[in-house]
Amino acid sequence: MNAIEISDLKYTYADGTMALKGISLDVTKGARVVLLGPNGAGKSTLLLHLNGINLPQQGSVRIFGRKVDKETENEVRREVGLVFQDPDDQVFSTSVWDDVAFGPLNMGLSRHEIEHRVADALNTVGMWDLREKAPHHLSFGQKKRVAIAGVLAMDPEIIVLDEPTAYLDPGGQQVLMEILEDFHNRGKTLVVATHDMDMAAEWADSVVIIKDGTTLAQGGTELLGDISLIREANLKLPTVSQVFSHFSRFKDRSLPKTVAEAVSILEEYIK
Ligand SMILES: Nc1ncnc2c1ncn2[C@@H]1O[C@H](COP(=O)(O)OP(=O)(O)O)[C@@H](O)[C@H]1O
Ligand SMILES: [Mg+2]
Repeated sequence: MNAIEISDLKYTYADGTMALKGISLDVTKGARVVLLGPNGAGKSTLLLHLNGINLPQQGSVRIFGRKVDKETENEVRREVGLVFQDPDDQVFSTSVWDDVAFGPLNMGLSRHEIEHRVADALNTVGMWDLREKAPHHLSFGQKKRVAIAGVLAMDPEIIVLDEPTAYLDPGGQQVLMEILEDFHNRGKTLVVATHDMDMAAEWADSVVIIKDGTTLAQGGTELLGDISLIREANLKLPTVSQVFSHFSRFKDRSLPKTVAEAVSILEEYIK
């Protein structure tokens, strides 16, 4: 069974902006999907449909076969954890600890289990020492860490992150990659919107590119080295691909995208 099935999804905001113009997408359980596209493409609007914050106006979204609608949105929210693009939309309690405990509290878990999960999540994102602090006094990157901890504490089956690396320092990005790796190893399904092409290349097994509310391309990471597609999507090549794009002998084939691919090509020449 697919973890996520999106069929001909359309969404128009109250001011008339048609943000999604018919998106269809299937995500298999355990996949690592990266969602790419320029600003305003509709990435956040799409992700907000995955846990019922936006409900489909036309088309449908199914999570493990269950249609997302007014009746199912609470169950869906246990299965899909969403880290918003802007942590100020997510982090609102009077202390960091309370904020991370909010989801587990609503799940009706025991006090002991909640304390355990919150401590675990805060330690994982490196925010335990700041657990008493008011979230609105934190830096943007720290708030993002708290928002990620909130989702960790819920332990959902599907984790959706909207531009998670933006504003994280290199240490925070490294921690995030470890969290994603751990989720993946535990069989979770991951969907990440990002502009970080290097992260996309190293991490994803499936790539979705959207622009102007429609799907431009869908496939494996070979899409990331497709010069004309990347240009059309206002994206840039991964750093490794940029380097190889300067050499004419690589122009006619899919460019290497990851450090490992570059090393294996260079080994041929440096022998
Ligand atoms: N609350 C809103 N009201 C009206 N228009 C919106 C709202 N949120 C987003 N939009 C518009 O919808 C389109 C898609 O936005 P968004 O999903 O945020 O794109 P992305 O995340 O890819 O940058 C943009 O044109 C944006 O201006
Ligand atoms: Mg966005």
